[in-house]
Amino acid sequence: MPHSPLIQSGGLAAHTAMRLGADADGITKAAQILRRGGLVGFPTETVYGLGADATDSRAIARLYAAKGRPHFNPLIAHVADIEAALALGVFNDAARTLAMAFWPGPLTLVVPAAANCPVCELARAGLISLAIRVPDHAIARAILREAARPIAAPSANRSGHISPTLAAHVREDLEGVIEAIVEGGASIIGVESTILSCLGNEVRLLRPGGISRDDIERILGITVLSEVSEAAGAAEPMLIAPGQMASHYAPRATLRLDAHRVMPGESCLGFGLPLPEGASATHSLNLSGAGDLTEAAANLYHHLRALDAMGNPGICVAPIPAGGIGEAIHDRLKRAAAPREMP
Ligand code: TXA
Ligand code: MG
Repeated sequence: MPHSPLIQSGGLAAHTAMRLGADADGITKAAQILRRGGLVGFPTETVYGLGADATDSRAIARLYAAKGRPHFNPLIAHVADIEAALALGVFNDAARTLAMAFWPGPLTLVVPAAANCPVCELARAGLISLAIRVPDHAIARAILREAARPIAAPSANRSGHISPTLAAHVREDLEGVIEAIVEGGASIIGVESTILSCLGNEVRLLRPGGISRDDIERILGITVLSEVSEAAGAAEPMLIAPGQMASHYAPRATLRLDAHRVMPGESCLGFGLPLPEGASATHSLNLSGAGDLTEAAANLYHHLRALDAMGNPGICVAPIPAGGIGEAIHDRLKRAAAPREMP
């Protein structure tokens, strides 16, 4: 088989990834490759994921290598339905309520791993907790159902780079080091899932994402804490998602936020109208002409990649409201604009 030698050799694939369609045949092939320890890019409603068998530490080691991701950054286990999710972890009342309200959907819950949890230590980065998600995407769920085991799926980009919302983005970043990519059109939501930690008696927002803080608070009837509680004091360890590094989601160009005016050497990422003063027709893209945050989230990564490809050394970004999914957009832009961490 053209795509299997790496699985035998343990080395990384140095050949073209198989292009799989979203039909029954493509889904079966994707599931087979996953079950054999291969790496498969596949669509979800948030961003494209890079799947690997979460129970197979060799597959997970290959996944970390393909992404260039540090091993201390744990992965999300994806499963096809709520029942499979509940079997992986210990869900308290809040976690159960959130699961029922938002799964399948763009929500990841961090809960204590079940005693018999099959997700390997490497995928969990040695933590006793586990991040779990049930995606709301027909192709993703079909692959998960056929794979019939938890699938670790980080965003299918090189670590630190912009997350992919099209199969073509996955190819740009990972061609040559993965076995297959399932073509599934554009990701509808366009930013990653919201991550909530439900450990102990608290619910904390570790990463804003596809489901807004307001919606979560409405369902729970409580205020959700942010990454590190103000009341926690210095004694409590930082409870942030380890992957939430200062610099992330980064294009090559440097980003300048809250810009009202375009400076020389900058392309422009607009929101609403008018565009910032001095925006050129050839080097500007608008996240949403109508000023709609949902549309802006769906366009965010795509437009950042496209502006980056235009080659200007800088990108200025118009002011964007922070409500609803705007919190996730702000989070991603802030990290994309942060000084780069040198490897
Ligand atoms: O929308 C998404 O969540 C996408 C799609 C593909 O499902 N996946 C995704 O995975 O964004 P990734 O690996 O790019 O981001 C997962 C985040 C990382 O920041 C990681 O540190 C955090 O989840 N995480 C994983 N397990 C954790 C745990 N046990 N405790 C705290 N954070 C955890
Ligand atoms: Mg990611």
